[in-house]
Amino acid sequence: MSAARQGGRGRDPERVAYLNARLLDPASGLGTEGDLLTDGEMIADFGPGLFKDGIPEGTQTVDCAGLCLAPGLVDMHVHLRDPGLTEKEDFPSGTRSAALGGVTTVVDMPNTRPPVTTRAVLQDKRTRVRGRAAVDYGLFAAPRSEGAVSQLRDATAFKVYMAESTGNLQIDAETLGAVLHASAELGRLVVAHAEDEHRFRKGQPATLAGHSESRPKESEASAIRSLGALRGEARVHIAHVTCAEALAAVPEGVTTEVTPHHLLLDTGRPLQAFGKVNPPLRSPEDREALWDAFAAGRIDALATDHAPHTREEKEERFDEAPSGLPGIATSFPLLLRQVRAERLSLERLVDAMASRPAEILGIPKGRIEVGADADLVVVDARRVVKITARRVRYKCGWTPFEGMEGVFPSTVYLHGERIVEDGEPIAEGAGRPVTRIEA
Ligand code: DOR
Ligand code: ZN
Repeated sequence: MSAARQGGRGRDPERVAYLNARLLDPASGLGTEGDLLTDGEMIADFGPGLFKDGIPEGTQTVDCAGLCLAPGLVDMHVHLRDPGLTEKEDFPSGTRSAALGGVTTVVDMPNTRPPVTTRAVLQDKRTRVRGRAAVDYGLFAAPRSEGAVSQLRDATAFKVYMAESTGNLQIDAETLGAVLHASAELGRLVVAHAEDEHRFRKGQPATLAGHSESRPKESEASAIRSLGALRGEARVHIAHVTCAEALAAVPEGVTTEVTPHHLLLDTGRPLQAFGKVNPPLRSPEDREALWDAFAAGRIDALATDHAPHTREEKEERFDEAPSGLPGIATSFPLLLRQVRAERLSLERLVDAMASRPAEILGIPKGRIEVGADADLVVVDARRVVKITARRVRYKCGWTPFEGMEGVFPSTVYLHGERIVEDGEPIAEGAGRPVTRIEA
């Protein structure tokens, strides 16, 4: 079965009808069979039997019988390493991999070089990435003083580091309090890397279990409690929670995110430093508890924390290898496989990977909705394949999910333009900066 459009390649600004698809959006009648009409860059209409009176003249058709049609996914936590660290990844390569996995919007973290801590750097980064992204994108900034907050107000959202990790952008509690206060005044979202350095244990771990003990679960719960005390009126989102203990510390009104690696990998895997990440992978039991919380809807969003490092760096001695692992192309494929295995509902998948992150960021994405951008993913849920480094095309050349099963999209559209066809990336540079919906 093919979702190939009848007609030319690339941009087709006219009307396109997607016929007999399973629409994967809770708002559009989740999992029901229906049709969808796009007009140029936007979704014009959708629903069952949309064309029972015939298809309007001049409309191209895409046969989606037996296929699923999902809103393009939103990955609110990626490190594309551009500028400054482009031996690991860059905007074209990282966004191409995103598209392969059905992700049509990414938000890039500020620990690039130089770090995005000033207005000048933010503007420079924006200029450098323009026209080079295969999917739509936003940019995080990292204010390191109260005054920096208004300087950086054009960023999509703010990131604060409460502990050391790649980039050394951590701030102390007093500065954090001031940044949260100023962000609240501006109504900006603050995403927190929540680990408390005072709870770290000394030593030079040589294994994944040792790494987990050196940055223990209590350090996350403790940092989250501090955030709760400091946050005031700020809108706070906690990145990459790894365990039930951290979740239990999350205050009412604060949103949370989980990564595919904390849901699907643990310290029992023979990954050595290729599985080294902050916060660390936990035990199989912790992972199971995290999965149950995610499946039950107690975590808002799924984001990858795609943080590639080169093979050479990861082959260093364990305690010297950098933390972080890639995942931008494999999150939807891996999670859709879990839906197939009946370990997760489709509704939860679409909510956590599209609607909720868009809502948290305040961007008009992640939904099948009349007037929304026609960012769409066509996938045959029966086509299970093995994940390989070759398939995901990261610049770093490896994936920690090698050999695991996934379901990749066949076609991906960005504002109505095909950017992936037959599972292959076919368009570059079509990505645009996202705009926030001002509250
Ligand atoms: O493991 C990590 N890697 N955690 C972070 O917070 C940063 C990331 C990176 O940029 O490599
Ligand atoms: Zn990160």
